[in-house]
Amino acid sequence: MIDVHLTPDHAFRALSADARAGLTADPKWLAPKWFYDARGSELFEEITRLPEYYPTRAEREILEARAGEIARLTGARTLVELGSGSSEKTRLLLDGLRGRGAGEAPAEPGPLTTFVPLDVSESALRDAARAITADYPGLVVHGVVGDFTEHLDRLPGDAPRVVAFLGGTIGNLLPDERAEFFASVREVLEPGEWLLLGTDLVKDPDVLVAAYDDSAGVTAEFNRNVLRVLNRRLGADFEVDAFSHVAVWDAENEWIEMHLRADRAMSVLVPQIGLEIEFAAGEELSTEISAKFRREGVEAELDKAGFSPGAWWTDSEDRFALSLWRAGSVHE
Ligand SMILES: C[S@@+](CC[C@H](N)C(=O)[O-])C[C@H]1O[C@@H](n2cnc3c(N)ncnc32)[C@H](O)[C@@H]1O
Repeated sequence: MIDVHLTPDHAFRALSADARAGLTADPKWLAPKWFYDARGSELFEEITRLPEYYPTRAEREILEARAGEIARLTGARTLVELGSGSSEKTRLLLDGLRGRGAGEAPAEPGPLTTFVPLDVSESALRDAARAITADYPGLVVHGVVGDFTEHLDRLPGDAPRVVAFLGGTIGNLLPDERAEFFASVREVLEPGEWLLLGTDLVKDPDVLVAAYDDSAGVTAEFNRNVLRVLNRRLGADFEVDAFSHVAVWDAENEWIEMHLRADRAMSVLVPQIGLEIEFAAGEELSTEISAKFRREGVEAELDKAGFSPGAWWTDSEDRFALSLWRAGSVHE
């Protein structure tokens, strides 16, 4: 079952508004959610397999070790996954919540009845929902094509729910957007329900930059894909290969910034929104931030949003953290 809250018409209007705001701003920007058409989602999957891109492997290691504990702590009947993509790692959680180790037959079925993946990328969502439905007989898979900054109030599933937000995607939101996002998750959860959050941790900038600027150039292709999306959906005429991929570490804000740098001066038409924009040679368009976290910062943000701490786990090299948060204060 798939609910489509982000209809093509809605997506077109949202992309048009974002493109108008971002491309007429100084400096220019585009929001990272627009990377993810079918090709963007495939490129992201390729990124997760790159030697330089440690976050997926690190988070997988934690999930392998902790899925059973997450099941015991939460007793979840519904697993909601925001920005679910391929939901590959999520299978470890599904196994834990259904009372079985990866690949084992269930000893005693866990209480999980429903899985709710939500993503803006309809193709990725449908593929993942289809594969999980086939591999998890008896599990209700209720996919939602939606935007996690807009459609959280329409999440199906019985309590208690765990809302998983994996992959460090939270780092793509700016601090005030993060605060708004955590508050909106808290608002839809009843006291005693759970948020499971994956956060990439601050580390050696060389390691971080390499993860976003791989030697095979896959991240560069992923970055440029946003221009292809604008060309296809808004009829723009970006010369995609005339933009270079840039990834830099902002030490003050503790985030990676991805940009696209115009190799020469050019003008670009975006006919669907009646825009003609100029790029100077070397001008940069900001496409994504990926914030890196420290435990104290995450705890402060979640406390402010009305969550109490459940657990904090890291991988064996302390590169990535998975943390569990209970909706409500300790007294609720
Ligand atoms: C960095 S990838 C992470 C994918 C997966 N959760 C993982 O851990 O590998 C971000 C995912 O979030 C989705 N996404 C990005 N912005 C979104 C938004 N505003 N609402 C819903 N999904 C979004 C993308 O389509 C993509 O699948």
